[in-house]
Amino acid sequence: MTDALRPVDITEDQLDDVLRVRARSFGPLPASAREEWRKDAVEFLEDGRYVGVAAGDEVVAAARIWDFQQWWGGRQVPMAGIASVVVSPEHRGRGVGSMLMRGVLQRSIERGFPLTALYPATTVIYRKLGYEFGGGRYRFSFDTADLRSLGGKEVRIRRAGPADAGRLLELVAQAHESGRANGVLGWPEAKVAEWLGDDDMFAYLADDGFVVYNWHDQDLRVEELIALSDTTARALWSTVGSGSSTARKVHAYISPNDPVHLLAQREADKETHVQHWMLRLLDAPAAVAARGFAPGVTAEVDLEFDDPEVPAHSGRWHLSVADGSGKLTPSERTGDVLRLGSRGISALYAGTPLAALRGSGLASGGSAGDDGVLDTAFGGTPAYMLDFF
Ligand SMILES: CC(C)(COP(=O)(O)OP(=O)(O)OC[C@H]1O[C@@H](n2cnc3c(N)ncnc32)[C@H](O)[C@@H]1OP(=O)(O)O)[C@@H](O)C(=O)NCCC(=O)NCCS
Repeated sequence: MTDALRPVDITEDQLDDVLRVRARSFGPLPASAREEWRKDAVEFLEDGRYVGVAAGDEVVAAARIWDFQQWWGGRQVPMAGIASVVVSPEHRGRGVGSMLMRGVLQRSIERGFPLTALYPATTVIYRKLGYEFGGGRYRFSFDTADLRSLGGKEVRIRRAGPADAGRLLELVAQAHESGRANGVLGWPEAKVAEWLGDDDMFAYLADDGFVVYNWHDQDLRVEELIALSDTTARALWSTVGSGSSTARKVHAYISPNDPVHLLAQREADKETHVQHWMLRLLDAPAAVAARGFAPGVTAEVDLEFDDPEVPAHSGRWHLSVADGSGKLTPSERTGDVLRLGSRGISALYAGTPLAALRGSGLASGGSAGDDGVLDTAFGGTPAYMLDFF
């Protein structure tokens, strides 16, 4: 008889089990990387953010929960980033992954995260638990020579290092607040300083912008570029473009709405790459209260949610949006209102238009007028991330 399966918190002495399952899920980790992996793992388990499923004493499934901030409507919202989801092959297809993910959702709710997101290797298991596509990690490619000629030579830039982490974060906040960014992750200053201390990252700072880039094979890769003026955008992109004698292409993780699309003469469009991530609301009233909305937008809409995994969501709600903020409160109203399941709520929050939600069966009821109001309230700049986790 097999041992009963039960959810567990991963402990340090179970990390060999996790490594064994991980090797069977993502391929073996080179011996040189194992120490680093273990060090990272300990950070998660010491904070109660490494959960698993055990059969007897043996761990047969595990997942990590990153403690992230995510920008929505120009404000940061705490988000549980789920990563390294693994189930041992002999236990797959028997509900163990779902049991693991229910433990992940439960822990994330206990920890007060209103949102959770992940990069899915398969969508099936996550959709069943209420996740839906929220946005993408976009990588666009440019001819290096094209960027070189963008100008901005009058802008003074200097090399940046770990001591500039605070200034970089101020610039990020200014850009994302004024641009009402959606989806992109917010990092703590210590992590940014660590990143800037990496000798393989080349960071340059102007008064109102910065770029961090590196080599990727024979090409250059922009990890992040923030510019609060067009002259600084020109200066930073042409700094990267100054590598045109040795690097043919620049690959850039940026928003699909980044101004460089409007500045560069040519974009290597056949090389655009997008990796979709999924979002799920864990506490809808908190998620709505924490995010921003465009100033000038007002909404008064009744909704009905059905969310078997988070029963507190199920029922009728009233959404009010005014002066850049929103509120979701229980509603007593009867009659026909827009009905959404957990996938529908999550996709709507991420800016998916009602036409797409209705077209895929994720929304029903309500009125065309409410659809227009909700599209305006939740729509905006497409949700994107720069980082994979
Ligand atoms: C993906 C993984 C975690 C799923 O674990 P599992 O224990 O098999 O999941 P469950 O048995 O709870 O399956 C839940 C649902 O997802 C479906 N599912 C699971 N794996 C799937 C796959 N690879 N492709 C399509 N559907 C899949 C199941 O069929 C089930 O749906 P059903 O009830 O309609 O049959 C597991 O296969 C695994 O560890 N894979 C390798 C690593 C990996 O890809 N991790 C995910 C990283 S995001």
